Amino acid sequence: MSSDPLIALREFETEALAAIAAATNAEGLEAVRVKFLGRKQGRLKDLQALLGKVSPEQRPIVGKQFNEVRERTEQALEARQADLAKPKAAAGPAFDVTLPGEPFPLGKKHPLTQTMEEFKDIMGRFGFTVVDGPEVEDEHHNFIALNIPGDHPARDPLDNFYLSVAGRSADNPVMLRSQTSTVQIRVMEQTKPPIRIVSLGRVYRPDNPDATHSPMFHQMEGLMVGPDVTMAQLKTVLSLFAAAYLGENVTIRFRPSFFPFTEPSVEVDVSWKGGWMEIGGAGMVDPNVLRAVGYDPEEVTGFAFGLGVERFCMRRYGIDDLRAFYQNDIRFLRQF
Ligand code: PHE
Repeated sequence: MSSDPLIALREFETEALAAIAAATNAEGLEAVRVKFLGRKQGRLKDLQALLGKVSPEQRPIVGKQFNEVRERTEQALEARQADLAKPKAAAGPAFDVTLPGEPFPLGKKHPLTQTMEEFKDIMGRFGFTVVDGPEVEDEHHNFIALNIPGDHPARDPLDNFYLSVAGRSADNPVMLRSQTSTVQIRVMEQTKPPIRIVSLGRVYRPDNPDATHSPMFHQMEGLMVGPDVTMAQLKTVLSLFAAAYLGENVTIRFRPSFFPFTEPSVEVDVSWKGGWMEIGGAGMVDPNVLRAVGYDPEEVTGFAFGLGVERFCMRRYGIDDLRAFYQNDIRFLRQF
């Protein structure tokens, strides 16, 4: 403590105010009070002793200063006491609840996801349930059980994404599925007829990307098996489906075709803007396929179809380049 009472008073005030401001709770503040203003041993008491030693001329000045310092310190202490007593929630800046909120951008589902959800909805109304199948498949489900023999051109390694997996037997190699027809087999292997399912998802083929090709795209597979399932029912279901998605006025037509797992087989076209667009393949499940999963072709028949998801969505929205779906350009995605 300085021997000059005025300097000592200023030091006292500076330190006392700093200590008061630094107190974070009532107990801490009380300790500060005792230390600086305590009646018995507080530092102000020591200063009072100093006061007795100043010359009579100086006494009024020092006395006045003493009183002022004490008062300011006491006020600061009271103010801080009140502050610490306030409930916590009242602290912080005032919040105006009448201000308009800040809008924040909401994401949307990808157009293909939206399309597939709509497909599931439509098919659900026709009584088809949705099942999933793996994208990494074995040759058994992608080809053999679908009646696609070893020498069939569709099995060319250059036309498929075969995977090399350590420790996997060479008799049943794995691959990225090239069609969702794999799910027909998986379902029939595990369930007894009657069956009415759809399965939607990605398929992979090593095509060079252009406006109508992509090495990955989406299909919806449909399968209905039961005692009297007919080609007429297939056509009805596909007509109703196309009308539900593209509009009441569309009609469909069948063109004779060939798939190893259906007999007869057809390509399916839908009328569109004065012409026809191909939407996929379909047919009656080949008796060989039914037999391979343990069904009796004398007792049950079935139809199956595989439709291109992108194709439908492109037609409905007038998109002319398939690649737009996979580029994630926000300006494109915002339209949906
Ligand atoms: N899986 C066939 C394809 O991808 C389509 C298809 C499905 C054909 C079901 C007939 C029956 O080309």
